[in-house]
Amino acid sequence: MAGLTHSALRQIFSGFGGVGLLSTEMLWAKRLPTENSSISPYLIRTVLEKPLSYQLLVSTDREIAPAIDALHKLQADAIDLNMGCPDRRVGKSGGGFALMEQPENARRIVIEARKGTRLPLTAKIRLSVELNGQALKEFCTMLEDEGIDMLSVHARFKEESFARTPRWEWIARIKEWLRIPVIANGGIFTVQDAKDCLRVCGADGLMLGRGAVVKPWLFAEIARELYDCDIVGPVVSLPVVYNNFINLINELFGPERRLGRLKEFTHHFAGNYKFGHQLSSRIQGSKSMEEAGERAALFFENNSF
Ligand SMILES: Cc1cc2nc3c(=O)[nH]c(=O)nc-3n(C[C@H](O)[C@H](O)[C@H](O)COP(=O)(O)O)c2cc1C
Repeated sequence: MAGLTHSALRQIFSGFGGVGLLSTEMLWAKRLPTENSSISPYLIRTVLEKPLSYQLLVSTDREIAPAIDALHKLQADAIDLNMGCPDRRVGKSGGGFALMEQPENARRIVIEARKGTRLPLTAKIRLSVELNGQALKEFCTMLEDEGIDMLSVHARFKEESFARTPRWEWIARIKEWLRIPVIANGGIFTVQDAKDCLRVCGADGLMLGRGAVVKPWLFAEIARELYDCDIVGPVVSLPVVYNNFINLINELFGPERRLGRLKEFTHHFAGNYKFGHQLSSRIQGSKSMEEAGERAALFFENNSF
């Protein structure tokens, strides 16, 4: 997730456990070959973050070979093609969801990517622009036929707000059409949501979005409760998680990046508190990391979990 699933948060996820596969935020394929991976906030990673899938934002097949070459050098464990991002700027570039609207372009991209790597090659899609089962079926089967190994589905239409109840039942349909594993995404914030989602769609796995930013221990809880993983119930102290996050971003990112990343994270993490909007607005209004740290400490003193 852009601005969120960088190395700091991924390390926190890994610390709690229960994650089968981590992912980077979306990475512009055409910029990848010239990025310096030791300082780029998008590419910095540690050995703790494994296995790690790199998500590519790509608009033409010409961008694929150099990007995949860069990902091989970065020792990616898997490569994901973003075909679901509805952002206007991304759409204008021809990437993200625009690829679902241009299936032949998407096909050329998948063919080129399949030719270029033996790593697991996955794709992430949305449902479509509207209820059109036939078009969706053709798109999904095209991905499978051209060599996609696993498909993640954000169960909402292009223009649907994140607040809308996801349409998990469509994931069940997609599963019927395909032989490759299908991963369900959208609206999983609790163990109960995960159970409900699996009951409705029978997906082969779950991808957590915002729920994992609110509760970075959610993977561990779901892995223990639903997948019988031998994981000790996570002991969670919200101030400890938050301060850990601050320490990691201070360690990993240049000063100009830190506050922005903290604000993004806080926007979601504050949802753990009844009066979380106070934490969020105080951090949004902070001018420095020091000020943000002090404001957060004061908030934690007055608000227990
Ligand atoms: C701030 C933000 C950034 C996101 N960035 C990405 C991204 O880089 N790549 C991607 O595939 N999806 C991205 N998404 C979409 C999420 O991965 C996920 O599909 C969506 O939030 C629905 O899942 P959820 O309801 O569990 O949050 C982003 C969502 C948000 C809110």
